[in-house]
Amino acid sequence: MAPQPKVDDTLLRCIGCGAVTPVAESGLACATCGDLLEVVFPQPSAKPPLDAAALKALWRQRRSSQLPADQSGVWRFREVLPSLREEHQAITLREGSTPLYELSRCARAAGVEHLYAKHQGMNPTGSFKDTGMTVAASFARQEGFHWVACASTGNTSASMAAYAARGGMRGLVLIPEGQIAWGKLSQALDYGAVTCQLKTDFDGCMRVLNEVVQCMPVYVLNSVNPYRLEGQKTAAIELLEQFDWEVPDHVIVPGGNLGNSSALGKAFLEMKELGLISTLPKLSVIQAEGANALVRTIRETGGKKLIPVQANTMATAIRIGNPASWKKAVRVLEATGGTVEQVSEVEIALAKAEIGADGIGCEPASAVTLAGLKKLVKQGFVKPRETVVLILTGHLLKDPEFTLKFHRGDLLAGTGYEKEAGLLNAQQRAPIVLEASVDAVLRVLEQAERAG
Ligand code: F0G
Repeated sequence: MAPQPKVDDTLLRCIGCGAVTPVAESGLACATCGDLLEVVFPQPSAKPPLDAAALKALWRQRRSSQLPADQSGVWRFREVLPSLREEHQAITLREGSTPLYELSRCARAAGVEHLYAKHQGMNPTGSFKDTGMTVAASFARQEGFHWVACASTGNTSASMAAYAARGGMRGLVLIPEGQIAWGKLSQALDYGAVTCQLKTDFDGCMRVLNEVVQCMPVYVLNSVNPYRLEGQKTAAIELLEQFDWEVPDHVIVPGGNLGNSSALGKAFLEMKELGLISTLPKLSVIQAEGANALVRTIRETGGKKLIPVQANTMATAIRIGNPASWKKAVRVLEATGGTVEQVSEVEIALAKAEIGADGIGCEPASAVTLAGLKKLVKQGFVKPRETVVLILTGHLLKDPEFTLKFHRGDLLAGTGYEKEAGLLNAQQRAPIVLEASVDAVLRVLEQAERAG
């Protein structure tokens, strides 16, 4: 008899009623109460050594290996991920292993001494989504799915399309028409996904997707998929490794559908449980004022009941009004002692330009972290001497239109914020059109030198 494939034996726990089921018996929601599921940690089948010192040594040692699973900054940490039947079956683009940069000018602007950016935009498709997608897409293929799908504000779709293509699966993308950045849309097309621009917002796309999957055997790769969050945990583990397991005081992350904050928080808690760290960083979530469901949920209900909003922000990646993982995020805020804050469109634009001027760059949604940090320092929640890490979630080139409009001075035109346009002037560097003459260029150079 041919060897029978082992079914995926991962255990999932419902975050609402706590029921634990093997993955083979569950969909993406609890069969009893309908709430979201999370991967149980540690899995009963986890093999030793889950010993802190041994894990640290093993993970470091893999960095010099040529094996694809070791070269992936996600699968390198496979002892704390659900295990694939065959390690070499992982669909990997060598995601993860992203840089940690010091942000010196931004630190001065925010009023802190030690500020770092963990740049998840340096992943293969330019966003943090790849770290989750390598895991969830690999499990989709292992389970024999032909179609994978997502609703997206752009980055999930870009990432899913790439991993589906690499894994020989078809990808279905539902995006809100006219509300995603061109860079992201072009990626989904290039990687060959069937891309539908629906005449609705992200939350509407999510609703349609939930019905589509009732009619077809399509595997959902949104962050309601617990495997996605397992992969996204590795950014936090890698960050701790980059700090030589010294725990930073604060980690600040943008909030949209709230999967990423939940994943990073889960990782910090698990690392503490395993004894790799002895304290937790405070994990805080920043949202755009126009898409502030979590901020309102915390402030108005103490995190007990979601307050959905009609979302609107130029940071299109986080234009989400009904975040799926809000309960997981509330739990993480409570467990780590973090907080929530919201920032305006002008604050986001300024912070983005400041991160750019530090030579790093990011997309608008990532810049809410710096804008939020400034507020948290003013409130005294972050102390000047504390070490702070901003999670930059997407690459600058995802949304070049935003950057060009900012520097040309027309970002706020038609938005209702025109009166505040003057606040952006100091950071604007519009391209200068000149005659092709040496003198003209020298004059510009002298002016720039005088302006400093
Ligand atoms: N930053 C970027 C660049 C994003 O693309 C997203 C989410 C977030 C932050 C928020 O992360 O949803 O885990 O709280 N983008 C999703 C997408 C929703 O479809 O690409 P979250």
